Amino acid sequence: MTLLLIAIATMGLLFVLTALFGAPYVPSLRKEVKLAFIELYPIRPTDVVVDLGAGDGKVLIEAARLGAHCYGVELNPLLALIAKLRLGSAGRVTVANMWSYQLPGDVTLVYAFSVSRDTVKLQRYMQREADRLKKSITLMTFGAGIPDKKPLAHRKAHALYTFIPLQAD
Ligand SMILES: C[S@@+](CC[C@H](N)C(=O)[O-])C[C@H]1O[C@@H](n2cnc3c(N)ncnc32)[C@H](O)[C@@H]1O
Repeated sequence: MTLLLIAIATMGLLFVLTALFGAPYVPSLRKEVKLAFIELYPIRPTDVVVDLGAGDGKVLIEAARLGAHCYGVELNPLLALIAKLRLGSAGRVTVANMWSYQLPGDVTLVYAFSVSRDTVKLQRYMQREADRLKKSITLMTFGAGIPDKKPLAHRKAHALYTFIPLQAD
C-alpha cells in the first residue's frame, strides 16, 4: 500500500514538473541503447559521454557500464536527482537548460533523444560547441535525425553524425 502511494505521488510530481518545465519525459529503449553503444559507436573507457536531456540517467548508465565518464544535463530537477543517484561516481548531472550548456572540453560523444521540432536547434548547438571547443564532436541521435546532414552510420532509430569545427583562428 505504501509503495503504491509512493508510486502515485511520484507520478503526480513528475506530471506537475512536466507541466511547470514543459519537458516531457520519454526514455530511449534500453536494449537499443545497449546495442548502439556496442555496434554503432563502440564505447571505450576513454570516452566522455554527454546526454542532452539525461532524464533518469538510463542512457548514461549504459555508457558508464562500458567504462565511459558521463555528464548529463537535465531540466527537470527530480529526474536529475534520480540520474545523479544512479550514476554515482561515474559522472555528473547538471540541472540546466541544455541549449545554454557548454560541453566539457574532453567530450567524445554527445547523445540526444531528438524530436523533429528541435533538430535544427540541435544542429546549431552542436556546430557552435564544435567551433567553441575547436574539435570534432560525434553526435548520436535517437529518433529524428539532423535534416541537412548525412549520418556517418545508423542502427535502427539511432544515427551517428560528426561536427567539424568551421572557424579557424
Ligand atoms: C525524451 S527524454 C530522454 C531521456 C534520456 N536521454 C533517454 O534518451 O532515455 C528527454 C529529457 O530531456 C529533458 N529536457 C527537455 N528539454 C530540455 C532542455 N531544454 N534542457 C535540459 N533537459 C531538457 C526532459 O526533461 C526529459 O527528461
